[in-house]
Amino acid sequence: MNVRLSGVGSYLPERVLSNPDLEKMVDTTSEWILERTGIRERRIAPDGVATSDLATIAAQRAMERAGISAGDVELIVVGTVTPDMMFPSTACLVQRNLQATGAAAFDVGAACSGFVYGLMTAASMISSGLYRNAIVIGADTLSRITDWTDRGTCVLFGDGAGAVVLEPGEGILGSCLGADGKGWDALMQPAGGSLMPATHETVDKRLHTIKMNGNQVFKFAVRAMANSVIECLDRCGMTRDDVNLLIPHQANTRIIEAAAARLGIPLDRVAVNIDKCGNMSSASIPVALDQAVQSGRLKRGDVGVMVAFGGGLTWGTAAFRW
Ligand code: ACO
Repeated sequence: MNVRLSGVGSYLPERVLSNPDLEKMVDTTSEWILERTGIRERRIAPDGVATSDLATIAAQRAMERAGISAGDVELIVVGTVTPDMMFPSTACLVQRNLQATGAAAFDVGAACSGFVYGLMTAASMISSGLYRNAIVIGADTLSRITDWTDRGTCVLFGDGAGAVVLEPGEGILGSCLGADGKGWDALMQPAGGSLMPATHETVDKRLHTIKMNGNQVFKFAVRAMANSVIECLDRCGMTRDDVNLLIPHQANTRIIEAAAARLGIPLDRVAVNIDKCGNMSSASIPVALDQAVQSGRLKRGDVGVMVAFGGGLTWGTAAFRW
């Protein structure tokens, strides 16, 4: 595949929601949250700010670093589970905000794996010669679909966005995407779609918020992340020793540590930002990538491996040379 990542950017809303703040909202303790998840605080977008707003700023930062102007953008792909609305797509709203009038735009639905799925979709479209560049964004405002009365989930999530610019060149080395629809009900937002349209009852029962089977997702995540990285490295003819930085989806520190242990990759080669950001779904990986690049942890020429898992169930790995 002849596609490189030419720029990366991210954006986090300013407002911090800390564990002590959550102690005042539900029956929990800061210690429980930190010990069981690794999360200390997360960011929350202000009222009236939507996923497309976060996505637009992240995209602008990535474009600036890649040195590409809005008029030259040919494709915009957004991975999200919290689109501004059911339709139009969030990607179209970002296209309008950027005034990227020449760009095709669409969203990818793969839950927390949305950024990696979007990355490989756009990379394939560049590799085939259809497009000369693309902006791929992972953006989520999970605070809007969180049940703030459910201590089992509300402590986990945060808001944010990350973006990369793709252009022809050497960079993406290989990937491994997968899905298991049998696990569809392990992680979902049940109401608001064609199966269960919004009614007074769905609102009363909080069915427009995230429902999950935490233990089932936990076990699946460790297995899927490790297996998918192993298969991706295999396809690339690489081993774990070639990986300078593993950039996993940030759902729980214990999941990250267990997957890294299975892979035999030491934690000093694993990007972790869950303590400050919580789980931002599609945004977690590109935000962690941006932070690793800006801090000098991932340097030009280094090999990075992103690995995601999420609702669907889905998983996805992409290996690249930065
Ligand atoms: N504070 C205090 N106690 C709590 C809290 C809380 N916030 N949440 C749950 N508990 C309690 C439970 O009620 C339970 O009590 P009980 O033993 O009296 O019944 C006890 O803690 C243990 O609960 P478990 O669910 O077994 O706790 P576990 O160690 O499995 O941690 C967690 C739960 C953090 C949710 C974990 O299972 C996990 O991280 N799962 C994966 C989640 C994930 O990856 N989700 C992806 C979501 S992506 C998306 O939705 C966009």
